Amino acid sequence: MTKRLLLSPPDVGALEEEYVLRALRSGWVAPTGPEVNAFEKEVADRCAVSNAVAMSSGTAALHLAMLGLGVARGDVVIVATMTFVASANAVVYTGARPCFVDVGADGNLDADLLDEAIADQTRRGNRVAAVMSVDLLGRCADYEALMGVCARHGVPLIEDAAEALGASFQGRPAGAFGAVAALSFNGNKIMTTSGGGMLLTNDTGLADHARFLSTQAREPMAHYEHAHIGYNYRMSNILAALGRAQLARLDSMIARRRATRAAYADAVEAVPGVSVFQRDGDADDNCWLTALIVDPEVAATSTRELLAALEARDFEARPLWKPMHLQPVFAEMDSYSNGRAEALFERGVTLPSGSVHDAAAIHRVTTALREILETS
Ligand SMILES: Cc1ncc(COP(=O)(O)O)c(C=O)c1O
Repeated sequence: MTKRLLLSPPDVGALEEEYVLRALRSGWVAPTGPEVNAFEKEVADRCAVSNAVAMSSGTAALHLAMLGLGVARGDVVIVATMTFVASANAVVYTGARPCFVDVGADGNLDADLLDEAIADQTRRGNRVAAVMSVDLLGRCADYEALMGVCARHGVPLIEDAAEALGASFQGRPAGAFGAVAALSFNGNKIMTTSGGGMLLTNDTGLADHARFLSTQAREPMAHYEHAHIGYNYRMSNILAALGRAQLARLDSMIARRRATRAAYADAVEAVPGVSVFQRDGDADDNCWLTALIVDPEVAATSTRELLAALEARDFEARPLWKPMHLQPVFAEMDSYSNGRAEALFERGVTLPSGSVHDAAAIHRVTTALREILETS
């Protein structure tokens, strides 16, 4: 029996084992420690920012990013609608309301619609305290356009780079855009600490405050003194060691995912109405997940049939993110739609993309894809 192929399972091996064991034997089995400090320094260097704060999740990093920018109850934070729910949930934790804006053809925040949305919210008397852009599936948004819009309106930009470590835009790494950015090291990401995240910023004051809030806002006194509400969001030393091993292997893991994307592109090249999402210019992409886009006007197979046929062969496949403005929990929130996110949700199918899948495993998927798409 062959094993079920998952979308993006963790890719850990001998190096991770060595680093974690070393940390364990050092006696630093706690949040904070030398591995955390070293991991922060290495990620900050990789992402070309001056400060990195390791946390228990990417969601925690987004939450403290917003607190650091002064987002508070009654504010509005604009969020790209094409994202995982964590981006919007983090806004709600601050007491602010998320307002959803649609995307361009690349699946990332549409700068023109963002411009209209900020103007409209302001006209209606709402304070837009921040804009959260999401680098969908590991491709950076167009930061030249987005930073221009945000600067014109005087609104700070947060880069949700949870999916994008290792990607770049115009030669600058993901995680280096806007006032503050967040990475995720969840088990399904390009690299993992099993669970974890990081806040990145060039603003040292914001980073220091985030570090303080992430350790229960403990004042520097011998006894436990607290003047602020804090959070238990710090990363453990053991997990930081795992992260350092993963970071050392990041480029080879990205290369594997890139080869997988190329194999999928070959497999569907001659199939009418079926294409690989974001295949153009993907040299700057980290190729975290590869998705197919099925055009219902042209393709002989529907997304539903494709998903079912892949699942029947034990290949995990899922639709792209359901846009936030369609989620029941956010039904009351304002949104600005152009139909693109909805179309991506209806047409997109994500495929097994993890770096743990070797060429032989991906060959099984491409063979199945050829069968499914040619016989339908
Ligand atoms: C776009 C996006 N934002 C935020 C998160 C949250 O990260 P975490 O799971 O580390 O909290 C994720 C992934 O889980 C994500 O894909």
